[in-house]
Amino acid sequence: MTANEVIDREKEDNCITPAFIGKFTNVFRKKNPDSLINAANNNKLKRSLTAFDLTILGIGGVIGAGIFALSGTAAAGSATHIGAGPAVIVSLILAATACSLSALCYAEFAAMIPVAGSAYTYTYATLGEIAAWFIGWMLMLEYAIGNITVASSWSGYLMNFLKGFEGVLPHFVTNPPLWLIHQYSVAVEKYQEAGLNPAQHIPHLGPIPICMDLPAIFIIGVVTAFLYFGIKESTKMAFTMVLVKLVVICLFIGVGAFYVKPENWVPFAPNGIKGVFVGAYLLFFAYIGFDAVSTAAEETKNPQRDLPIGILASLTICTILYIAVGAVLTGMVPMHLINTHAPIAAAMASVNQNWIAGFISIGALAGLTSVLLVLQLGATRILYAMSRDKLLPGVFSKVHPKLHTPHLNTIILGGIIAVLTLFLDLNAAAELCNIGTFTAFLMVCVGILVLRKVDPDRHRPFRVPGAPVTPILGALICLGLIIFGLPTFKTLILFGIWITIGMTIYFTYGFKKVSKEHLTEEDTEILPLT
Ligand code: ALA
Repeated sequence: MTANEVIDREKEDNCITPAFIGKFTNVFRKKNPDSLINAANNNKLKRSLTAFDLTILGIGGVIGAGIFALSGTAAAGSATHIGAGPAVIVSLILAATACSLSALCYAEFAAMIPVAGSAYTYTYATLGEIAAWFIGWMLMLEYAIGNITVASSWSGYLMNFLKGFEGVLPHFVTNPPLWLIHQYSVAVEKYQEAGLNPAQHIPHLGPIPICMDLPAIFIIGVVTAFLYFGIKESTKMAFTMVLVKLVVICLFIGVGAFYVKPENWVPFAPNGIKGVFVGAYLLFFAYIGFDAVSTAAEETKNPQRDLPIGILASLTICTILYIAVGAVLTGMVPMHLINTHAPIAAAMASVNQNWIAGFISIGALAGLTSVLLVLQLGATRILYAMSRDKLLPGVFSKVHPKLHTPHLNTIILGGIIAVLTLFLDLNAAAELCNIGTFTAFLMVCVGILVLRKVDPDRHRPFRVPGAPVTPILGALICLGLIIFGLPTFKTLILFGIWITIGMTIYFTYGFKKVSKEHLTEEDTEILPLT
């Protein structure tokens, strides 16, 4: 091959190679979208999902801890941040706008490059390898670290629920020791709140305190088992849970509307625009999950048609429901009386609708379980794609010969999430998850602009309406919410540590491995990655 032919080939494939720009610029090598699609077509995963399944999967991943738990803190505020008050409705609209604009970009990508790996893979095709790794690492914050928040909320709701059986069930079940149902820092706080000395109550193994959120670890184990056995089975389980949580949310809106007192909506925004931004930052968590639909691309029967439907339909349904919940909640309960742990159930209890409150707790448990299922599914599929690209060890892309699931990856991830519940508390995990997701969404919006420029003729079964304004606006809103809404500085530090760990893994493993395979396979010939 002559030098000119090489240059032509590179231009054709949009790839930058070491021969021309030096070793370091390998970090910008890109995937050819056609190769990605071909690889996906040859995968061993089972194609069983329809548009309806994907919408259920989307709603399954969206309605959860955000609306069942965080809506209370977002409206009322907490010790660490201010609340939006009734203007939480505006926060919900703002967060929905950021998500909708990003969702449109996701839909264009998902229809154009329908492969597992979601934003990670799209970025590999547009911005290059290092950006793709970065996004994949951000998506782990969203799906894996986000699941720590959801599993902790699940544990909290379970304990609430079991407390209702005091005197019926054994005392150990309704009132277990705090060190068995909380992460260490939370347990210490709870003991102190109760006027007890944590050192005397938390058992130690030598110098190591024994403290764990057992129900959270349990539910992560159950979800891991479901994912191990198959995606279709998992969506069947998600379907029942989605139905339960939709009934519960509609019940709250329908019954709660009769108890709304318009005077509770005044003052509308007691903490001004800052309160609204902080609320939007937190409630962004409530929308996370719709993008997990795109991670199931390779298991979808007709991905080019069904992925945009699944993404946009689930997000639209959830946005409408959330705004209604926000309006009813703040209309029913004065801001300073909104419960910050289980706001929706507590609002019903406050108007003596106790049976509805109980039913809402059951719905929350079901809702949170389906979120866990969808987020964990997303995480395994991204790890699968990263491993297939050699950025992670091959064990992550092994597919079970009979079940057709990435079984080993599922077990490893489940184990890691369970272990991390020992170290991260619910709020830290939520804030960290959000900053990672904002970054991922931002890069998806930028990716759309880049691919429209470098590959304008590619077939796009779905096109973002109003581009380039829509993606630019999407990116700016995500960035704005990070800058103006981030509640605590600690999150920035944890985010920095997360990025450092990710980049270390990339440069010590993935970057080297891809470069080596590339050279060995192609015998130093310059070719795009496939
Ligand atoms: N959107 C999901 C939830 O609120 C992550 O739990």
